[in-house]
Amino acid sequence: MRVCNVVAARPNFMKMAPVVLELIRRGIDSFLVHTGQHYDANMSDVFFEELGMPRPDVHLGVGSGSHAAQTAAVLTAFESTCLEHKPDLVVVAGDVNSTLACALTAAKLNIPVAHVEAGLRSFDRSMPEEVNRVLTDHVSDFLFATEDDALGNLRNEGIADDRVHLVGNCMVDTLERHVATALARRPWEALELEPTNYALVTLHRPSNVDDEAALRGLFRAINSVSERLPVVFPLHPRTRDRLGRLGLVLAPGVRLGAPMPYLEFLGLMARARFVLTDSGGIQEETTALGIPCMTLRENTERPITIRQGTNRLIGSDPARIKAAVAEVLSGDWPTGVRPPLWDGHAARRIGDIIEVWQPA
Ligand code: UD1
Repeated sequence: MRVCNVVAARPNFMKMAPVVLELIRRGIDSFLVHTGQHYDANMSDVFFEELGMPRPDVHLGVGSGSHAAQTAAVLTAFESTCLEHKPDLVVVAGDVNSTLACALTAAKLNIPVAHVEAGLRSFDRSMPEEVNRVLTDHVSDFLFATEDDALGNLRNEGIADDRVHLVGNCMVDTLERHVATALARRPWEALELEPTNYALVTLHRPSNVDDEAALRGLFRAINSVSERLPVVFPLHPRTRDRLGRLGLVLAPGVRLGAPMPYLEFLGLMARARFVLTDSGGIQEETTALGIPCMTLRENTERPITIRQGTNRLIGSDPARIKAAVAEVLSGDWPTGVRPPLWDGHAARRIGDIIEVWQPA
């Protein structure tokens, strides 16, 4: 059996690293493909170094583009890779454009597909990731789910139960493996901050960043947070670009910076007073760490982080954000519990399933 593992964009690295390392540990023949959807050193290379992942065996170098152009470029390039390397199984993760493109390529070549983080649904088809999630799941043979809502979502869409496996959360495997090292580096000191006395902000969703009125409102809200405590705000390239074009200015208490390496961000997140974000993964990481999370969206594909964890949907209205910040600062926020199987062993469960599988 020969397994092809796929990575593409920043959130994929934390999800795939434990799977890649687990297959190597078991002596399963595997190779790693990077589509090149993210290509800056601080959006890609640094994660390989910090997570101990081997360098990609194949780099497709597709880069940025419109949804159609990027997806098409991955389809074409990944087809050649599959024809040349003949994998028996292709493993993809998450919901980025490359996830769908590689899953579709493999399915059309009759190569079985495994999807890590299957079954999540925001039920909001205006999100590109929702389209990627639904379509990837429907061409996958192994659907590895992080939470039990996913099982119901997949059943409702007619996907057979025997293809679905609740394995837990690979991103939490990575977090568990690295959190002690991240904290030992005390990343707040370099920013002259006190642990538990700063807020951490990330923003990159097109619905927030590409809409001028929404972005202006969010920046007003972030400025008002900085009147209460310092704010650390590493900028995604999409957000940095919009900030420059619109000439938006943030208050001096907001520390803007470049995208952070994994360990620096994890250490800061683990000692933040709270996190404001529109990321999917950070909703899960804050729940795993027990840190209050305000999600700047109207919906989430990760409802377990609200039901059991520390996450609340706040949306993008500045008044609502201000009220939520006041609540968290007064100590009125759920402490949450970790969802079942978010225990650092999800990749081992995936390895157990792949190892005994017999390709046709
Ligand atoms: C992508 C994913 C999103 C994920 C996010 C994490 C899709 C549809 N979206 O969004 O689900 O949450 O990654 O970051 O797949 N750019 C750089 N350097 C890079 C990569 C991108 O400067 O290394 C810039 C380019 O101007 C590019 C823009 O960022 O056009 C957006 O990149 P893209 O990969 O298209 O989408 P993201 O917004 O990063």
